[in-house]
Amino acid sequence: MQQLSFWDKALPQVVNVASVPQRSPFRYPGGKTWLVPYINRWLASLNFRPAEFVEPFCGGAIVGLNVAFDNLAEHVTLVELDEEIAAVWQTILNDNTGTWLADRIVQFDFTIENLNYILAEPTYRVQDRAFQTILKNRVNRGGILAHGVGRIKSGENGKGLKSRWYPTTLQKRILDISTIKEQFSFIQGDGLVVLRQRAKAQNTVFFIDPPYTVKGTGKQAGTRLYNHSTLDHEELFSLANTLNSEFLMTYDTSSDVLDLAHSHNFDTALILMKNTHNTKLYELLIGRNLDWFRQISDRTNLFQDKL
Ligand SMILES: C[S@@+](CC[C@H](N)C(=O)[O-])C[C@H]1O[C@@H](n2cnc3c(N)ncnc32)[C@H](O)[C@@H]1O
Repeated sequence: MQQLSFWDKALPQVVNVASVPQRSPFRYPGGKTWLVPYINRWLASLNFRPAEFVEPFCGGAIVGLNVAFDNLAEHVTLVELDEEIAAVWQTILNDNTGTWLADRIVQFDFTIENLNYILAEPTYRVQDRAFQTILKNRVNRGGILAHGVGRIKSGENGKGLKSRWYPTTLQKRILDISTIKEQFSFIQGDGLVVLRQRAKAQNTVFFIDPPYTVKGTGKQAGTRLYNHSTLDHEELFSLANTLNSEFLMTYDTSSDVLDLAHSHNFDTALILMKNTHNTKLYELLIGRNLDWFRQISDRTNLFQDKL
């Protein structure tokens, strides 16, 4: 019997996120778990193995983590501007204190008093800030780390604040990442600067998932999802245009973004996803040539005329 080729195995129209390994210690608003199978196809369609995979707006870094674990690039570079999120990546990837963080998590006695105490404490060490960030990410509504966001109320099964606290799972994820940390570089800084620095790089690919031009949707409608939520989107598109190598961007489906993409002669396609509230939504993929995507998801093209 003839073997199915890689391309014959069409992806389901909406990726089941449960089929994607969860490798990030974050629960991340705007996280791209659902895109991981497509990223794998994109990288497989390239005629080279990337020397560097760069995620200039990494957040929970689910894509970069999967690329490293699946050994799809020589090296993965993650960039994030937010100091609290950066503290987690710095602790695990740069400072050799991932084991400390994993231990701190499993040893924490989760009571409201202890939680309030830790979150109110000033932090002097990066690793302490990392622990605070992990706690906040677990108890804040939707995992949102932007200042002023409230905490989970009833939570899963009425378990309240503790409903997203899975210490041994977090410990395992952090230790697993620590074992392959040589494959990563983490930079706390501006993704635009890193893109500019690498514009002429060869064999480098960029997965660009910036803060979107609209605020949260569904239950998060109107909520600011990130502390750094404004970006010069025109500058980002101009920079993308200067990149020597391949890139893939994801965006909300706004007409301003489409105009920007088309004014740079970039290719665009809609991709269907389900958000955390199980609502089906379209997001926009942008690249120089998205034929690889059309080949595996013909049906998605039916929606091209909606653009
Ligand atoms: C859409 S989220 C990325 C989500 C990520 N792809 C994931 O799956 O978890 C965008 C991220 O960009 C960060 N950010 C905003 N402005 C930035 C900048 N100028 N440079 C680097 N990161 C930035 C935000 O803090 C946020 O974490």
